[in-house]
Amino acid sequence: MIIGVPKEIKIKEDRVGITPQYIRPLTEAGHKVLIEKSAGEGSGFSDEEYKSQGAVIVDSKEEVYSEAQIIVKVKEPLPSEFKLLKKNQILFTYLHLAIEKDLTAELLNKKITSIAYETIEKEDGSLPLLTPMSEIAGKMSVQIAANLLENRNKGQGILLGGTAGVPAGKVLIVGAGHVGFNAAKIAIGMGADVSVTDINTDKLRYLDNVFGTRVKTFISNEYNLKELVKDTDVLIGAVLIPGYKAPCIIKEEMVKTMKKGAVIIDVSIDQGGITETMDRIQTIENPTFEKYGVIHYSVANIPGSVARTSTIALTNETVKYLIDIANKGVIEAIKQDSALAKGVNTFNGKLTNEGVADSLDIEYTDLSSIIGFNC
Ligand SMILES: NC(=O)c1ccc[n+]([C@@H]2O[C@H](COP(=O)([O-])OP(=O)(O)OC[C@H]3O[C@@H](n4cnc5c(N)ncnc54)[C@H](O)[C@@H]3O)[C@@H](O)[C@H]2O)c1
Repeated sequence: MIIGVPKEIKIKEDRVGITPQYIRPLTEAGHKVLIEKSAGEGSGFSDEEYKSQGAVIVDSKEEVYSEAQIIVKVKEPLPSEFKLLKKNQILFTYLHLAIEKDLTAELLNKKITSIAYETIEKEDGSLPLLTPMSEIAGKMSVQIAANLLENRNKGQGILLGGTAGVPAGKVLIVGAGHVGFNAAKIAIGMGADVSVTDINTDKLRYLDNVFGTRVKTFISNEYNLKELVKDTDVLIGAVLIPGYKAPCIIKEEMVKTMKKGAVIIDVSIDQGGITETMDRIQTIENPTFEKYGVIHYSVANIPGSVARTSTIALTNETVKYLIDIANKGVIEAIKQDSALAKGVNTFNGKLTNEGVADSLDIEYTDLSSIIGFNC
């Protein structure tokens, strides 16, 4: 199979779809790997490193897309890349289609087999290709918030950990999954006063067992959120309902009650965000805007700013699926791996992810009814 890895074009997105260490296993199995010139540069991987492992470096994105049978990326294709996608190509990347109507239409029209990293789901419900980026985004969210609280960034001018005679800053984390857990870990490490909410008591129980009295846990409902939000210095959105648009649970009225110079980092923004006032997606270069005196941070590719760590963590997980697809062919690989099958969002012009179909109000087709396997 010919595997193509284009350079990412999202602003300040320095991750890349494959690292040099994973080229050899693919070429030795008889596959050809095309890497767009300088695609790995932002993650610290030179063209020479890729070449030394057997990859072919090509000059343009156009060449990658026109030759490859499978495109391996990090972020969803942007409108300027739509025209490069070929009919019946396989696309393996993060997609977050629930908020990407135009891209979804393009993938359906071109009968692309699109496999979204974030919806690959194991039988135990875990999301192996979302988890590493969620861990990084969770850790980064607190680091970013601590910076935004500084005076020079129009924050409240408070130190999250407080100091002798001055109480610690308050961090509220909504959602106690991978992002939430890792945000809590860093916030606790910084000495902040940390509260976490979730609708799932087991998730809260886990945090309670791990962090004991260093974290306060609350069931996530409107009553508790209203009370907690008005008093918090940092609010971190970390909710996920896989495939679906994020629920809008932090209402505009709640944001209005927050302190001037408080910070909201809505990590869930890649699925639409949980904050009513988080009405736009910003970039790593220009990550914030202000509303009601509250700093809103809405970057959908937070791990992109620590590209080397993120690329290595991501490809450590993606490559095993890529090797399977390349060796067995996409249909056989899907048939043999129910986790990979859950990753398929579009196939032969049909929308095969229920959450995306519901969110975009497009007809859903069960993948097993098209290619015949038992999910
Ligand atoms: N912005 C970025 O750069 C970036 C990076 C990585 C992940 N993410 C996103 O972060 C979000 C969280 O990812 P994750 O891996 O932590 O997911 P996860 O599945 O591990 O955790 C999500 C948690 O949300 C909880 N939840 C669901 N509905 C809720 C509600 N109404 N109130 C409170 N909690 C609720 C679930 O019970 C679960 O514990 C996802 O949208 C993911 O795509 C964004």
